[in-house]
Amino acid sequence: MTGAIDSNMTHLHGCRAPAKLNLFLHVVGRRDDGYHLLQSVFQLIDLADVLHFDLRDDETITRVTDLPDVPAGDDLTVRAAQLLANAMAHRGLRPTGVNIAIEKHIPMGGGLGGGSSDAATTLIALNQLWQAGMKRSELMDLGLQLGADVPFFLLGENAFVEGIGEQLTGVPTPSAWFVVIHPGISVPTPLIFREPELTRNTKAVKIVDLSASPLGFGRNDLQAVAARAFPPVADAIKWLSAFGEARMTGSGACVFAAFASESEADAVLQSVPAGWRGWKAQSLATHPMVTLLQS
Ligand code: C5P
Repeated sequence: MTGAIDSNMTHLHGCRAPAKLNLFLHVVGRRDDGYHLLQSVFQLIDLADVLHFDLRDDETITRVTDLPDVPAGDDLTVRAAQLLANAMAHRGLRPTGVNIAIEKHIPMGGGLGGGSSDAATTLIALNQLWQAGMKRSELMDLGLQLGADVPFFLLGENAFVEGIGEQLTGVPTPSAWFVVIHPGISVPTPLIFREPELTRNTKAVKIVDLSASPLGFGRNDLQAVAARAFPPVADAIKWLSAFGEARMTGSGACVFAAFASESEADAVLQSVPAGWRGWKAQSLATHPMVTLLQS
């Protein structure tokens, strides 16, 4: 859950930004601008970054946490805050500045949506703190300008996702324990989507097709290309396949498998090879910040 807002609405601490897994990911076409048309089920999990927001007396938007791999100006939290401030300015509102602190737990370049989720949590938190009065759909429009995965993290629940990530339909998913393995490398998303050998014509499915269960449905069309270009991804899939049905999430590098119980997930984590990182994560039915979203 989110931390408490103080009575003067000057800070919002402990805001969670959950990771996602793509239970499957099909590439069903390509737009004229080169972006790929996808079908996927996005599953929220309880592996999360934690963000803290403190309003300032001036108008500066500052990331106060040092993240060596991400310059503050490129950080999606700072860009999300700036975008919301600009949208408010168009409505004649002048928000104060804000200090943004980030406790990073979701690995970057892992296909877990960490940066996108941080951006979404920033929009939700600052919409509240700045009293911007934006509806969920308005925040989603802003989020899409930051990245294709951002609108999902503003929906509030697990979703069947189409288009480039902006067409969202909430779907129930079974509760599960996941083991997520990071094989020590990060995969650049644009490189995977540029690959000539990528499958781009998977037949479109309908939600009813996955009604039995989205767990184990379909495949990840980006996996073959990523596993070929980045051998540690192939190694991680092979290793985790000994315990369950292993699959890559997003454009990698992380791979995951679902288990019925926490003890099964714990047993797998006992033997994660050196140089890799492993987490157990539980499925979430709703986003931890859902109560702050106005439909
Ligand atoms: O939206 P995001 O920043 O995550 O996308 C990174 C890159 O991945 C895009 O610039 C684009 O090259 C590619 N991409 C794509 N089709 C998508 C999502 C991303 O081609 N649906």
